[in-house]
Amino acid sequence: MLEKTIKQVLVTEDEISEKSREIGRILTEEYNDKNPLMVAILKGSVPFFAELTKRIDTHIEMDFMVVSSYHGGTSSSGEVKMVKDLDTSVEGRDIIIVEDIIDTGRTLLYLKQLLLHRKANSVKIVTLVDKPEGRVVEIEADYVGFSLPNEFLVGFGLDYDEHFRNLPYICILKEEIYQDKD
Ligand code: IMP
Ligand code: MG
Repeated sequence: MLEKTIKQVLVTEDEISEKSREIGRILTEEYNDKNPLMVAILKGSVPFFAELTKRIDTHIEMDFMVVSSYHGGTSSSGEVKMVKDLDTSVEGRDIIIVEDIIDTGRTLLYLKQLLLHRKANSVKIVTLVDKPEGRVVEIEADYVGFSLPNEFLVGFGLDYDEHFRNLPYICILKEEIYQDKD
């Protein structure tokens, strides 16, 4: 059903699974005995967060945050707003932020600065997708699943107007789907 709206799959389900195992192994070694707080940025990071955390074989804790930067459509508003804060204090903690995608970098710059201001011991960023060409502020992820061209992507958490997050791969939609919504 959804398949007929797709122009091209850029990253398959198997590739995401393999990459999650790889990053999971690295984090297991790096955070062994550190009990990091893994922070999922809702809603986009949910599928990747689930995939990644089950590949980490040491103690972790989980918490969730909602920030908004997009207000529908395919371009960023430029403004980052906190919608739901963490339940856990980050003071002295080692934090791993898990994001779906870095585009302009504004969301992650805001979050990293906020957590460091709250005296986190360390803040690292894991992102499923990086779109380096979209960057307007200086911020890089510590671990990147897939570095992809500057196109509007959906699937595996990434949405177009709240739709398509449930696709099990990362893809580009046919042009008419974007046109119909605008
Ligand atoms: P940034 O603040 O511009 O780096 O954007 C981060 C947020 O923008 C992500 O968490 C996504 O919600 C959204 N975003 C950026 N690029 C895409 C895309 O290609 N598809 C879907 N959402 C995107
Ligand atoms: Mg998002």
